[in-house]
Amino acid sequence: MSSDKAGRLGGQITIVTAAGQGLGEAIATTFAREGASVAVVDINLAEAQRVGDEIEAAGGSALVLEADVTKSPDVDAMVKAVLERWGTIDILVNGAGGFHKLAPITEIDEEEWDRVIALNLKTAFLCCKAVAGIMMERKKGRIISISSGAGIAPNPHAPSYLPYGSAKAGLIGLTKHLAKELGPYGITANCVVPGTTLTPRVRKVRDAASIENIAATNPMRHLVEPEDSAEAALFLASEEARYITGVSLNVNAGNLIV
Ligand SMILES: NC(=O)c1ccc[n+]([C@@H]2O[C@H](COP(=O)([O-])OP(=O)(O)OC[C@H]3O[C@@H](n4cnc5c(N)ncnc54)[C@H](O)[C@@H]3O)[C@@H](O)[C@H]2O)c1
Repeated sequence: MSSDKAGRLGGQITIVTAAGQGLGEAIATTFAREGASVAVVDINLAEAQRVGDEIEAAGGSALVLEADVTKSPDVDAMVKAVLERWGTIDILVNGAGGFHKLAPITEIDEEEWDRVIALNLKTAFLCCKAVAGIMMERKKGRIISISSGAGIAPNPHAPSYLPYGSAKAGLIGLTKHLAKELGPYGITANCVVPGTTLTPRVRKVRDAASIENIAATNPMRHLVEPEDSAEAALFLASEEARYITGVSLNVNAGNLIV
């Protein structure tokens, strides 16, 4: 992906979903720092606006959009708004995901299963589908999805949560199939796979002792931060990674070695 603007992603039109905080925010600001024009998409408009303002204040280019990316009308409106502003889409980062509680299978009802699968897997399907045609026509594009170590194997040091792990494993599968399907069009599809990450939310819900305890179980005795995943995503979006596709890149200080 050549560019005439400064930075490793100079001039690349990028969508980052769930960019209002945490890993999505780190990816949006890192990509903007490297010259990408970034659509900062989140269900929480105020937080997306804060990130967009930060990008613009640093001299970058941001388009702030409110969208619930579990819903196809919102996803279609998001893509339309980006095309109206910048005319094309080079990079899609599927950041939306997460869960609200841990529970054993016997306590998970159908609605909860559907909700977690929708947030972590359907979102990626809808967003990839919405941008695929545009990228195929141009014969270029990068798709990066944020999976989780839980999608590779249950963490022996943490409680497991079936719907989340299943959805994140599905995201890795979706990425491999996309890599094959879209490869002939010069489009790559990859996953960043963070281990437990020291996001502002994790700092809020865990005390210092529990954070230290998670870090202590990692071979590198360190808890990764959002910027670590953002730099991995940057590499996958960069020219240097042009023939890397279908991979899952672990960012976890050795927390899960597979
Ligand atoms: N934090 C971790 O330890 C960790 C580890 C592995 C993987 N991940 C994955 O990384 C991604 C980001 O995690 P995080 O911890 O930074 O998240 P977070 O909970 O801190 O932030 C999530 C953001 O997503 C937005 N959002 C929620 N539902 C949305 C929807 N339907 N449409 C659009 N936006 C929506 C929220 O408003 C929020 O701004 C997720 O996919 C998560 O599963 C996180």
